[in-house]
Amino acid sequence: MDLGARIAEWDAEAPAYDEPADHGLTDRAVRSAWRTLLLGALPPAPARVADLGCGTGTLSLLLAEEGYRVDGVDFSPAMVERARAKLAGVERATVTEGDAYEPPLPASSYDAVLCRHVLWAMPDPATALARWLDLLRPGGRLVLVEGAWSTGAGLTAAATVDLVAGAGLEPSLTLLDDPALWGGPTTDERYLVSAVTG
Ligand SMILES: C[S@@+](CC[C@H](N)C(=O)[O-])C[C@H]1O[C@@H](n2cnc3c(N)ncnc32)[C@H](O)[C@@H]1O
Repeated sequence: MDLGARIAEWDAEAPAYDEPADHGLTDRAVRSAWRTLLLGALPPAPARVADLGCGTGTLSLLLAEEGYRVDGVDFSPAMVERARAKLAGVERATVTEGDAYEPPLPASSYDAVLCRHVLWAMPDPATALARWLDLLRPGGRLVLVEGAWSTGAGLTAAATVDLVAGAGLEPSLTLLDDPALWGGPTTDERYLVSAVTG
């Protein structure tokens, strides 16, 4: 599928994107579960975070509220419009419309790269990972939240671990089977993989 068609698909998702509990994080308990997970996985604020494929900006906002400096990138104009509205007036966060496969962000400038539910959608995940790692400062942290969902989409944890190891890092895998993160029980594979650059 070409780039324009992929952007159109995500544009169509944008109006209802925040409805699931883990997307909009409007439920206090679900938001709190993600806050705890992410703050445990990321370096402490005011670390600089690239939120690639930021969607409607939910995680960017959560992190900015915790004192992080966040630069979100998404290629969907409809997602970006919602993210900018959500982050309006938040000084520590920016949202750029652009392709996360070739991130329009400065190299060697971030303490962390965060991607939730985005690696699976890259044309070539290994190439995407290599480019994402270029954004990190030495000792920076890669945090990937992914899944192999019941819809058939996604990446298995084993595949993501292999990709990160293939990039020369030591991956750490956390299974995300706590219903608090999703607003209810799940039966498919959801996980976080993190690694620190040398
Ligand atoms: C499943 S959503 C996840 C959104 C957000 N990370 C979150 O966790 O709420 C995937 C997002 O990645 C974006 N995306 C997919 N491929 C992209 C690409 N090549 N460049 C930029 N954004 C992309 C889509 O527009 C969509 O907003």
